[in-house]
Amino acid sequence: MYNIEDIILDIKNSLSDFRYEHSLLVANEAKKLAKHYGCDENKAYIAGLVHDIAKEFSEEDNKKWIKNSNIKYDISLPEFSKIAHADIGAIVAKVKYNLDDEICNAIKYHTIGNEDMTTFDKIIFIADKIGRKNKNSFTDELSSLAYENLDKAIITYIKRQKEKLESKGEKLHPDTILLLNKIDK
Ligand SMILES: [Fe+2]
Ligand SMILES: [Fe+2]
Repeated sequence: MYNIEDIILDIKNSLSDFRYEHSLLVANEAKKLAKHYGCDENKAYIAGLVHDIAKEFSEEDNKKWIKNSNIKYDISLPEFSKIAHADIGAIVAKVKYNLDDEICNAIKYHTIGNEDMTTFDKIIFIADKIGRKNKNSFTDELSSLAYENLDKAIITYIKRQKEKLESKGEKLHPDTILLLNKIDK
């Protein structure tokens, strides 16, 4: 079993101050949303704490963690760390902290989502988007939508992300499109 104090200490020691602070904000947002939606508040807090554990990994760290996994990304691609930190983070959560599948899956889906996300997964996904130090009108909108309807908040976020990516000539990840098509009816 994991000990939350040990995890907090390890997260603090593993991340930059900026990302540690973000992780605490996400953990708090996740806990509040979990309470609102009747999910396990402690597990949501831990998932929030750990979700970006692999975000600042070096190429060496990534290689080490994906060696015995089924991650298929090309680690030389520039988008690798942006996308794969969620997959690698889920592996770290399992191997290093022995966290359960519900937490690991939520970490795995926190960046690009997945067609079959649970309420718990959606809480972590949206807590990541609103757990920001610098709030603005968009994060405020997402935050209030999240308490009204998680899917509405996710749809709003993905649509805005789509516009941002398209302005740079990029596209949403195929899994994000599947998620949007499923929930935006
Ligand atoms: Fe992340
Ligand atoms: Fe994050």
